[in-house]
Amino acid sequence: MKVEFLAFPKAFSGNVAAFVAADKQLLATAQSINTDAGGTVARAIDASRFTGAKGQSLTVLGTAGTIARLTLLGVGKNRELDARGAEALGGILAAEANAAGQKAVTVAVDPVKGSKLTPGQIAARIALGAQLRNYRFEKYKTKDKPEQKNSLEQITVFVAGPAEARRAHGQLEPTVDAVFFARDLVSEPANVLYPAEFARRARELTKLGVKVEILGEAEMKKLGMNVLLGVGQGSERESQLLVMRWMNGPKSQKPVALIGKGVCFDTGGISLKPAGGMEDMKWDMGGAGAVTGAMRLLAGRKARANVVGVCALVENMPDGNAQRPGDVVKSMSGQTVEVINTDAEGRLILCDAMWYAQEKFKPQAMVELSTLTGAIIVALGHERAGLFSNNTQLSNKLRAAGAGIGEKLWRLPLGSKYDKMIDSEIADMRNVTNSRDASSITAAQFLQRFVQEGVAWAHLDIAGMAWSSKGDSTTPKGATAYGVRLLDTWIADNYEK
Ligand code: BES
Ligand code: MN
Ligand code: ZN
Repeated sequence: MKVEFLAFPKAFSGNVAAFVAADKQLLATAQSINTDAGGTVARAIDASRFTGAKGQSLTVLGTAGTIARLTLLGVGKNRELDARGAEALGGILAAEANAAGQKAVTVAVDPVKGSKLTPGQIAARIALGAQLRNYRFEKYKTKDKPEQKNSLEQITVFVAGPAEARRAHGQLEPTVDAVFFARDLVSEPANVLYPAEFARRARELTKLGVKVEILGEAEMKKLGMNVLLGVGQGSERESQLLVMRWMNGPKSQKPVALIGKGVCFDTGGISLKPAGGMEDMKWDMGGAGAVTGAMRLLAGRKARANVVGVCALVENMPDGNAQRPGDVVKSMSGQTVEVINTDAEGRLILCDAMWYAQEKFKPQAMVELSTLTGAIIVALGHERAGLFSNNTQLSNKLRAAGAGIGEKLWRLPLGSKYDKMIDSEIADMRNVTNSRDASSITAAQFLQRFVQEGVAWAHLDIAGMAWSSKGDSTTPKGATAYGVRLLDTWIADNYEK
């Protein structure tokens, strides 16, 4: 989508959006259009539930002169409009435009009293929000039905000081590309996006200066990553370990490691999942998608930090060579695992990926993202990802980063009693307990057994967040790319100073 920032014009025409503050206070542009239109705008507001509360919108058709559609955007009370709120307004505007089949919209950013943001910053965030919302995975639609495509092609933002807005937007723009890249990965069906194809797409990051290395099964075998390999052994597709390096920080800075679960399809293996809804398991690589998207964003904006991304890419299938329940496998760490349930495969691939990352890169902190348990959806729904960590400072920083950009987290406990639940009779541990109790926590406990001394570690269970059946202000239905902005913001806030 084309984005432009311009100074205010003498008159408005076409599709215009303008601000209204709480209690129906028309800001300058809405006010002047209302005057030109003999009070039509105020009457339309009175005939609706629209009050100007933050995030509300109301579209009035054919208000005055050459204005086709006037979309009123609620900015709320004094000081209420923050960056995320402005992004949401942009998203709402894009959705309205697409619903109406409009190709171009303009929005007038009048100064918002009390907002901590300058008009230029508000303008930049509105554009970003519109761009993020204006995504659609339509490559497999072959019929030219306009309603199946997004119509919106251009947003023009009027603001006093367009140069500042352009600068602010320039800093945000790599986000769009990275989020779309991650959403594409997550949206692809598993016949197209299998481990080697995922790795091939990640290789494109080389162009941005990311060092990309891909390990195949033979190399992983040599390293002793048998627990990861066990998951992929029932698949025709080769398992891959994707290793990405963005080392643009000070030489003395130990890297942070980002780890992603990349199960390109999860049938459950021999512990086969029921048929209903199994198609959702194409997005069981959402953690790896987020990590790869985050690497793309860090490189896209040339982050001054040292970051490595490690993604375990496998397909979990049942066949004659598949792993059996009861099999015992030895991990790269030397610890042995009794595989009771082949559907608890995420932790199996992650334990070797985490160990590899720690051995190879000696990270100061390690954040792992995975669509790990259905139980986290029972607990938190689709509002927050589960956060598990051995470090309160790291937890708080991740939470703060997520809060600012609308990717929320909720911390859950770890503890020795939970840890005991995964002890095995014949190996060092089993991959599931023998009940459903606390199963998101016991999954995290399993992972924690592979965290080395002195490493600040966090596990984000994003099973409820990687895919949205409803969508929200800046995310259409489908793949969300949850985690891309969270990781990027966390690194920007903590490792680039
Ligand atoms: N990928 C699933 C978890 C999942 C479920 C993600 C629903 C998104 C939506 C994971 O591999 C899995 O199958 N977990 C099992 C664990 C169980 C066997 C202990 C689960 O959650 O049921
Ligand atoms: Mn599974
Ligand atoms: Zn899975």
